[in-house]
Amino acid sequence: MSTTFKIYRNNKGKVRFDTFKLDKKNMGPMVLDGLIYIKNNMDKSIGFRRSCREGICGSCAMNINGKNTLACLCPIDEKMTIYPLPHMPIIRDLIPDMKNFYKQYKDIKPWLQRKPPYDVFETSKDNEILQYPSERKKLDGMYECILCACCSTSCPSYWWNSDQYLGPAVLMQAYRWIEDSRDLSTKERMEYVDDAMKLYRCKSIMNCSNTCPKGLNPGKAIGELKKKISEELH
Ligand code: SF4
Ligand code: F3S
Ligand code: FES
Repeated sequence: MSTTFKIYRNNKGKVRFDTFKLDKKNMGPMVLDGLIYIKNNMDKSIGFRRSCREGICGSCAMNINGKNTLACLCPIDEKMTIYPLPHMPIIRDLIPDMKNFYKQYKDIKPWLQRKPPYDVFETSKDNEILQYPSERKKLDGMYECILCACCSTSCPSYWWNSDQYLGPAVLMQAYRWIEDSRDLSTKERMEYVDDAMKLYRCKSIMNCSNTCPKGLNPGKAIGELKKKISEELH
């Protein structure tokens, strides 16, 4: 079966669309397979990111037939129209500039924070920090995030205010650490996000949860985060 890939190209701000006709029997079943085929056989200059090709690294996020998703998890259909993630600065072709997204992630301090004395918490003989299964369960549905940014770049609030609004991916990770029973900076973490622009620009639009290629629900996590802050901080 043949397929057509219409691809957004951007070379130093000069935008055009290139169309490639492909025979599906020459490649694997996913859009990323098609892009790799084009790069290897038809146009070496095409720019896109990829690494794992199995939905783990998050590098191949792009807008395919109108939806933000991972090219390596998206099956090839008869006609494919491929853009980069929306409303991001473009480095080249399908490669968005992720600097702001990663800075926002770094600013929520996505690592375990402990303070001395450490022995006030129960530890095992190997000095592991113990956690009840019920506490660990609270992280399910959040720790699996691969930071692909499909959700944040589908959110209209993030489109217009990404300089200040943290967006669903980063907010869900902020909440993931707030909910971690081993972490001792819960209050500081809540105070950091409790801000009209950082958190409350989320207007529950829910595009984020509808688009997540890993089936996660960042919109729901943000709702729970707002509730926790209103109950425990205000
Ligand atoms: Fe990607 Fe989903 Fe994580 Fe958002 S929540 S960054 S869409 S894996
Ligand atoms: Fe945006 Fe999701 Fe909130 S789409 S407004 S982050 S619920
Ligand atoms: Fe890693 Fe697609 S190449 S998620």
